[in-house]
Amino acid sequence: MPSSLVFPPGFRFGTSTSAFQIEGATDADGRGVSIWDVFAAEPGRVLRGDSPAVGIDHYHRYAEDVALLAQLGVQDYRFSFAWPRILPTGRGTVERRGLDFYDRLIDALLTAGINPVPTLYHWDLPLALQEAGGWMARETAEAFADYASLLGEHFADRVTDWLTLNEMSVHTLYGHGLSEHAPGLGLELAALPAAHYQLLAHGLAVQRLRAAGAQRIGVANQHFPVIPASDDDADLIAAHVFADLTNWTFGDPILRGVYPSDEIAGGILQLTGMSPEQLAADLRVISEPLDIYGVNYYEPTRIGAPQADRDSSGVLEVDIPEGLPFAAVPIEGVERTDFGWSIVPSGLGDILRQLRERYPELPPIIITENGASFSDGPGADGRVRDQRRIRFLDAHLRALSDEMAAGANVVGYYVWSIIDNFEWAAGFSERFGLVHVDLDTLVRTPKDSYYWYRDLIAAQSPARSV
Ligand code: BGC
Repeated sequence: MPSSLVFPPGFRFGTSTSAFQIEGATDADGRGVSIWDVFAAEPGRVLRGDSPAVGIDHYHRYAEDVALLAQLGVQDYRFSFAWPRILPTGRGTVERRGLDFYDRLIDALLTAGINPVPTLYHWDLPLALQEAGGWMARETAEAFADYASLLGEHFADRVTDWLTLNEMSVHTLYGHGLSEHAPGLGLELAALPAAHYQLLAHGLAVQRLRAAGAQRIGVANQHFPVIPASDDDADLIAAHVFADLTNWTFGDPILRGVYPSDEIAGGILQLTGMSPEQLAADLRVISEPLDIYGVNYYEPTRIGAPQADRDSSGVLEVDIPEGLPFAAVPIEGVERTDFGWSIVPSGLGDILRQLRERYPELPPIIITENGASFSDGPGADGRVRDQRRIRFLDAHLRALSDEMAAGANVVGYYVWSIIDNFEWAAGFSERFGLVHVDLDTLVRTPKDSYYWYRDLIAAQSPARSV
């Protein structure tokens, strides 16, 4: 099924990964321990006890993976730096061999004509920083600023596009509010300082990267429409609060210099013990203007008021604990990915519209992640027929194209992911890749969706700039 979709000249197609999900080699070349190494090693944290220690071994096979990207024809490749590879304890002594790895990767990408788009942080905090308070402590934001300077000074001669942090909302909610992800703190709403200090880290990093000569700087935030479970006031309020806590707590400070509600700002003041003047000063840093805004979109969320008879089991990725002021409710009548996530391409258009309406100063957007987990593997002939992924990508790209025609300023789209990888608490059981990985042999096999995406990219205007 070739796609007839045409995007404007200059539109950038790419794919995304993150360090901890693909690199493996967790002991190699002086890499320090991260919170995810420790978390994944605890029994019961990761499905089937899957270990990321070897993973898909991108650290040693990066050249093969860059060749797959080159044959795909993408303009951009988004990956992340592993903080503990470069600064094993998060600050202080630099591990030269860690920088060397990213030098090799970036140089291979540039040689292949692919624009590297690194993210500075995708959830793999050095353990030493966690032991000193992690994202619940202001010092971590300061350590991140120094890490950003180091990276900027080392790479800005070759890297033009930078993303600071990935999905601060998910890291806050799943890793700090709940215990599904590292560091597994389970603090519920008391996790709000982790949001603030990641946001501060973002703002400080923007300043530091810019001072080091970085040309285009952005962030990768997860955004999704929040659908109220019904028109009842209680459900409308619950959905509003949830949207504030997930979407707008991370969008508003960056794009408007404020928190979305007095309750959230008040909670941050109370939980951090900082003064209102300090909060205002932080928000000025956090709202440093950006050149691009990264949006990760997967699915909408349906939210209602908590009710005893509301059954959300088996459908949602995470059950929201009792006691919080909202409950997740299944979206009915939609197809689902193998992860159980609802497939709602129109949600991409909806959230882009909401962002446009909410933020008059919205920078150009890149869809920094979109994709789906489908478990298809090689058939008897070795071919991976992942038609459902092709349908998913096609439908989302159509929704994107329609929304761009309606005025959304979107300049790029990255598939999550180029390759099957370590899907956090789900281990290797969920496969998001355009390329299949045999977990025993680590052999890479491009799926049908890889060839579909290659053909889509090749069919675009040759006037596209790289
Ligand atoms: C994250 C990725 C993750 C993907 C699929 C995003 O939330 O940034 O690390 O693999 O979604 O779950």
